[in-house]
Amino acid sequence: MKHYTVLKNECIDYLQVKENGIYVDATLGYAGDAKEILQRCKKGYLFAFDRDEQSVLYAQEVLEKIGTNFKIFHERFSKMEECLTSVGVNEVDGILFDLGVSSPQLDENRGFTFMRDEKLDMRMNTEDEKSAYDVVNEYSYEELKNIFYLYGEESKSPLIAKKIVEERKAKPIVTTLELVDIIKRSVGAKYFYDKHPERVIFQAIRIEVNEELQEIETALKRAISLLKPGGRLVVVTFHSLEDRLVKKIMKQYSEVDEMVKGLPTIPIEYQPLLKIITKKPILPNEEEIKANSRSKSAKLRVCEKEKEGKI
Ligand SMILES: C[S@@+](CC[C@H](N)C(=O)[O-])C[C@H]1O[C@@H](n2cnc3c(N)ncnc32)[C@H](O)[C@@H]1O
Repeated sequence: MKHYTVLKNECIDYLQVKENGIYVDATLGYAGDAKEILQRCKKGYLFAFDRDEQSVLYAQEVLEKIGTNFKIFHERFSKMEECLTSVGVNEVDGILFDLGVSSPQLDENRGFTFMRDEKLDMRMNTEDEKSAYDVVNEYSYEELKNIFYLYGEESKSPLIAKKIVEERKAKPIVTTLELVDIIKRSVGAKYFYDKHPERVIFQAIRIEVNEELQEIETALKRAISLLKPGGRLVVVTFHSLEDRLVKKIMKQYSEVDEMVKGLPTIPIEYQPLLKIITKKPILPNEEEIKANSRSKSAKLRVCEKEKEGKI
């Protein structure tokens, strides 16, 4: 197995796959979820997205063994609506997002890790122009400080950004462990070993390189528009910035407008587009965390489309 799929049973159960339904796996990865969906929608269709070509090639072979009723787009998931419209599909029965990175992206020399020495890269799509090397070597002090604050929520962001800018004057910062060493020297050994700021700094750079939060915001709105009434949106997140964003968007479109809240019956045009299915997020159980420590920060949120409508 290349990638251990987190909260797989829960995702598939909440998606409520119908035999003749049309589904979207927005984050195909190594087809852990997609395989289960395709096995269940035998007379339906599965559309899948991944911006990582390595995943697409691998998943294509896995899914071909199950059926022919699927199509994979090597694309950002924010392009979901355009891609589906291009093949004549305007609405679907369910959409799954299993956000973040896959195990091969972390483990196979793609420059995402702070645990081994690799060339700084972090692009999910290796055809994209901007890599972690560019961010670390070309962003200004202000830009670095801002992304470390915003996407890493790291209080020592100014110190770390300052040190990076100082160090790269002598020579470019090329590898992951060079960057880890600079982070360590900027904050001091005690803070480094107590708080491990390299985790959030690497997370921040990864989010910036792949424009992850902008992607999620756009794609969730597209997904909500594409769902049929009764269709479900199932989202797994892996850190608090992702989870807060997903929660905010689901809440925004599931609340009744203040203006009509007190009315005995809410006119249909004022009824919300969504109903929240998981009041609290679903978390992996101890057994899953034991089997795969990467699952420990996962949170699953689900909502259902209540009526026709686009955002
Ligand atoms: C956690 S993995 C998904 C694993 C998959 N559910 C499985 O079971 O194998 C996340 C995947 O989403 C992809 N991804 C992340 N952001 C994306 C985006 N904006 N557009 C398309 N794919 C994206 C990554 O390349 C990665 O392969």
